[in-house]
Amino acid sequence: LKVGDRVMALTGWGSFAEQVAVSGQNVLPIPAEMDFTTAAAFSMTYGTSMHALKQRANLQPGETLLVLGASGGVGLAAVEIGKAMGAWVIAAASTNEKLEIARKAGADELINYSEASLRERLKELTDGQGVDVIYDPVGGKLFEETFRSIAWNGRMLVVGFAAGGEIPALPANLPLLKGAALIGVFWGAFAQRQPQDNAANFKQLFAWYAEGKLKPLVSQTFALEQAAEAIDTLGQRKAVGKLVVKVR
Ligand SMILES: NC(=O)c1ccc[n+]([C@@H]2O[C@H](COP(=O)([O-])OP(=O)(O)OC[C@H]3O[C@@H](n4cnc5c(N)ncnc54)[C@H](OP(=O)(O)O)[C@@H]3O)[C@@H](O)[C@H]2O)c1
Repeated sequence: LKVGDRVMALTGWGSFAEQVAVSGQNVLPIPAEMDFTTAAAFSMTYGTSMHALKQRANLQPGETLLVLGASGGVGLAAVEIGKAMGAWVIAAASTNEKLEIARKAGADELINYSEASLRERLKELTDGQGVDVIYDPVGGKLFEETFRSIAWNGRMLVVGFAAGGEIPALPANLPLLKGAALIGVFWGAFAQRQPQDNAANFKQLFAWYAEGKLKPLVSQTFALEQAAEAIDTLGQRKAVGKLVVKVR
């Protein structure tokens, strides 16, 4: 890195600011064809979903991938990366408008979990076989219901708990019966502990971006003074894709 480079950084906390100090390990050059707003929305979402699907789930071409919260930040990135890795992607979300966004990102099948029974629809869509990989950034009551729809040798990725409330628990007989795995995902720790693997992930992500396979959606931008409004929009479950706060 040198002075004047265009860079993106993982700051953890404290980036609603005009200046921020960050460890060099957490800074990446922005590809020439990517603008700053897209770069601001890129690293957390695509970094997390790539690590989840590659290192944690070992997703294979032709496998079925179910993404919950599929129009949200990490969910929409998981839909695109799943398609780029050759999976058959089922997107699930709470409204038809949100599902339309997942469809535009490449999802093969859509399930509105406010209207339909997730278990019944998954049974129909997979001919009773269940889903190979489940990507769950939502948690809540969908967690156990979804795990019950997992395939033999399936992997369920614990990514986040956007639904709030109690952290879900799982009866231990369920993974036993399916020969399935419950797998934790913690991208920030992975990036610190395995920086070379993280850098290789970003090399692949930037290549897919240059090929047009990834199209990060920034649905709204906010001025720095409106940062609290941006956070409220997320909390009210109104956001799709990413929201970006612009410092200038
Ligand atoms: N493990 C990691 O390394 C890692 C990295 C990044 C983020 N995360 C976590 O992943 C989760 C999602 O992050 P994100 O940036 O994708 O958030 P987001 O853009 O707000 O998306 C979250 C999705 O969750 C669903 N949801 C269900 N109930 C909700 C509620 N009460 N409030 C808000 N959303 C609700 C929404 O979809 P529907 O309306 O369609 O249900 C929403 O699209 C967060 O918990 C975050 O902390 C984890």
